[in-house]
Amino acid sequence: MDAINMIEERRSVRKFKNEVVDQETMKEIISIARWAPSWGNYQIARYTMVNDPNTIAKLKHDGVNDFVYNVGTLTNAKNVAILSFVKGKSGKIEKLELEEGEFNYDGTSSSWEVFDAGIACQTFCLAAHAKGIGTTIMGVINDKAISEILSLPEEETVAAMIVYGYPDETPKATPRKDVNEILRFV
Ligand SMILES: Cc1cc2nc3c(=O)[nH]c(=O)nc-3n(C[C@H](O)[C@H](O)[C@H](O)COP(=O)(O)O)c2cc1C
Repeated sequence: MDAINMIEERRSVRKFKNEVVDQETMKEIISIARWAPSWGNYQIARYTMVNDPNTIAKLKHDGVNDFVYNVGTLTNAKNVAILSFVKGKSGKIEKLELEEGEFNYDGTSSSWEVFDAGIACQTFCLAAHAKGIGTTIMGVINDKAISEILSLPEEETVAAMIVYGYPDETPKATPRKDVNEILRFV
């Protein structure tokens, strides 16, 4: 599958076959996704895979703010990924030794860690797509509740929930804006 097809053909999948994706396949997908670029190559993204039905039920109950679409998608889901990131690193350059002297920069108050997580998220979804696994990124989530349910490390923040699995639907192409609407040359 070439890169252009992959980018154009990936769709959000919300109906899945009744099948757990095995750990070897997910390891392979993460081994591809880890090539995503990141601030300073700090690689702050973390992936937590959930297959236990009781835990998925808890995520459905407390993790998606009762958002009816996400509750519906999770109802028959067998696989959920939580994408989190290690806080307080991206945006920062500490003691870079240069010929001109030392360079320090603290941009941690900006949103580079979320930016890194976004790149990691799409890279994960494209890698999954290339391996025949469908995904939907879920942004209507309760990050604190999810952290608690999964006992995630204190140093991490939840960025997104990604439901995934073998597709049981072929979603129609979603519309995109015309290139002339989103592109300008100055
Ligand atoms: C940051 C982000 C948050 C999203 N949140 C949700 C969500 O909570 N529930 C959902 O069903 N889809 C969610 N989506 C999926 C979008 O609705 C979907 O990507 C968009 O409609 C385009 O469709 P496509 O992915 O099939 O191209 C989200 C996508 C992104 C990138």
